[in-house]
Amino acid sequence: MATISSQESDDFQKFRLSDAEMDGLFDTINRSVADEAHLMSRIAVVRQGETLTERLAIAKDEGWFQPMLNDLLRQGVSVVINDILITDAIATAVASHCDFPPDWVTQQNLYITPGESQGFDPHCDPHIVIVAHLYGLKEWTIYDKVLENPVYDSETNTIADKSNTPEVQSKILVEPGDCFVIPRGRYHSAIALSPASVHLAIGTAGVRAIDYIWTMADQAIHNPIMRADMTPDEALKMAREYMAQCVLEPVCLPRFPRTDRTVNANISSISFKDLLDALPSK
Ligand SMILES: [Fe+2]
Repeated sequence: MATISSQESDDFQKFRLSDAEMDGLFDTINRSVADEAHLMSRIAVVRQGETLTERLAIAKDEGWFQPMLNDLLRQGVSVVINDILITDAIATAVASHCDFPPDWVTQQNLYITPGESQGFDPHCDPHIVIVAHLYGLKEWTIYDKVLENPVYDSETNTIADKSNTPEVQSKILVEPGDCFVIPRGRYHSAIALSPASVHLAIGTAGVRAIDYIWTMADQAIHNPIMRADMTPDEALKMAREYMAQCVLEPVCLPRFPRTDRTVNANISSISFKDLLDALPSK
């Protein structure tokens, strides 16, 4: 870890990636950012906590990413590429440094942040996040607020109330190769201290009992009798009978198969280095 402020506690698991592990990450990112069809539905943009993604207009099939990236970063907008490919290189690196099984790696998002830009307001995530810092210098703020086992649903507010920002618990300054683990539900934010910074957020999650309840509901919605109008007592009886006969299989991990997908040679190929070239210079 590059520098640890005096406020930092030792609650957070930290480690450094080896050169070989960094190469594995860059290879995964190269394959993801070279595929503009993959990027088209996964790019998100944020400025000072405000999501601007719906304003993006992508009119071309090819050749749009690099100019758009240049334009956005020069305007001080953070660019997020969601769902970078999940590869064995990432899962193995996580498993070799953390207690989490490699099968728990479920999502990887790449954050490209211009200097002094806070991509998101203080928030927590509904999964464990392993931050792998790749470029520049960034300071993370960890708050004392924790939401117990949040999930993705409309009831869970994972964004901190702006009128009631939680207390700062610690600050963590990271440089390329530094990694640390943000526990599920722990509020955090980050600010780039160099002209630009890049990090990968590796989402990690086990199976939750609620996953089975949601699976049951997903199956029921496709059964016409479960959507029929009836009296409250009849509906309750029907629901009980349905749940009693439901057969649930264990959730398979990893949730999303790892891929060794290669990039179509015909599309314009962009690499992590090109991505860095688009960032504001020092
Ligand atoms: Fe987060």
